[in-house]
Amino acid sequence: MNICVIGTGYVGLVTGCVFSDLGNEVYCVDNNPEKIAMLERGEMPIYEPGLEELVKRNVDDKRLFFTQDLRKSVERSDVVFIAVGTPPKPNGDPDMSFVSAAANEIAAGLNRYKVIVNKSTVPVGTGNLVREIIEKNRPNDVNFDVVSNPEFLREGSAIKDTLEPDRIVIGAPNQVVAMKLLELYAPLERPMLITDVASAEMIKYASNAFLATKISFSNAIANICEAVGADIVQVIKGMGSDSRIGPAFLNAGLGYGGSCFPKDSSALAQTAEKHGYDFTLLKAVMEVNREQPKRFLNRLRTELGGTFEGKSVGVLGLAFKPNTDDMRDAKSVDIITDLLSEGASISAYDPIAMENTRKIFPHIRYTKNAYEAAHGMDALLIVTEWNEFKLLDMERIKSVMKTPLLFDGRNIYDPAKLRKIGFNYHCIGRTTATLLSK
Ligand code: UGA
Repeated sequence: MNICVIGTGYVGLVTGCVFSDLGNEVYCVDNNPEKIAMLERGEMPIYEPGLEELVKRNVDDKRLFFTQDLRKSVERSDVVFIAVGTPPKPNGDPDMSFVSAAANEIAAGLNRYKVIVNKSTVPVGTGNLVREIIEKNRPNDVNFDVVSNPEFLREGSAIKDTLEPDRIVIGAPNQVVAMKLLELYAPLERPMLITDVASAEMIKYASNAFLATKISFSNAIANICEAVGADIVQVIKGMGSDSRIGPAFLNAGLGYGGSCFPKDSSALAQTAEKHGYDFTLLKAVMEVNREQPKRFLNRLRTELGGTFEGKSVGVLGLAFKPNTDDMRDAKSVDIITDLLSEGASISAYDPIAMENTRKIFPHIRYTKNAYEAAHGMDALLIVTEWNEFKLLDMERIKSVMKTPLLFDGRNIYDPAKLRKIGFNYHCIGRTTATLLSK
């Protein structure tokens, strides 16, 4: 099949690569000339394990093409995916201007029947919006259908998630159209769910909001654990072993970040509000998430004698999660902003995300490794749980710090071991573990 994918962000680029790897001819379109030039040179605009090799293989085999020419790509294709960004506007609503612009341009290239697929995370009703724009702007009466096919890939494991999704959701106006997408996805041999368009759009938001709810629920329980002397790690194990609950997305820490959960939760709450429903449950989820880094910093401030003024703080991990260089809504940004505003100086290290962090904080100190970041510090914070931090020589870390104060925002260390080494060790929701290890 000939496929056009509009937008070469995480979703578009990975989707395009995977479809071309399955033997389709794929045109990946972006209106950013620098991005297209980079991709044509074989350079990746994002960090994603395995992506560069996948792009190279399919470009070499002449199945994958990068272009700015949206109209020609649409003309050549049977299926057109819209995978452009829907960044949040100041009021929390997603900005739909890129989706609308893509629909307008698709209309111009509608030379024969095509299936238009929304892969961007878009509010319920966007299928209709895209249909109306194309109907209004198509040059003739050529037929088309609009399908919703939400994406569930995670940054850092995007290729695996696309090749082996738990389910493929296809929201189509009728069975015949759904079959076209079924055919495309058939080689993956994964469960497929066919729904109407609005339900597919809602499945995406409901899934992300529910995962965010799991995380905030865990963080709220962790906060109570701290107060009552329980250990969240054991509590999660106990809860997660119930097959009705499941262990995934219950890790307590500094809360969720990234380009999806914060934006999509807020957008779903807005959608609810617009339709007269006050989604207080989801609002509370967002509130817990906002408060989590603040609670962490309050505890740190207390340990540092009530002030950050003049204190040196090392920060390990800057990306919103491991295996990505993405800084969107990263907890490190909230934490560093607050520390700087209260007079602390920062030494930071991240295996991949320092270049992107420099654009946000040009004046903090960046180091070559974790040991340099810890050197001479009054406190060291774990903000993102990169694997390389789990295996650090903690004796060495302690020996280079001014004060062995360690705040582990992702619960990656064994409290007993760390206390034995001599750290004043703090983590999330593990008071008992800390006490037991005394
Ligand atoms: C998320 C969803 O997991 C994907 O299914 C979805 O396709 C994607 O959003 C999207 O809508 O595009 P992503 O944002 O890449 O994927 O990252 P996740 O791995 O889901 O992590 C999100 C945040 O939750 C991170 O900040 C992570 O640190 C945090 N998290 C995750 C926790 O705090 N605890 C956990 O137990 C799990």
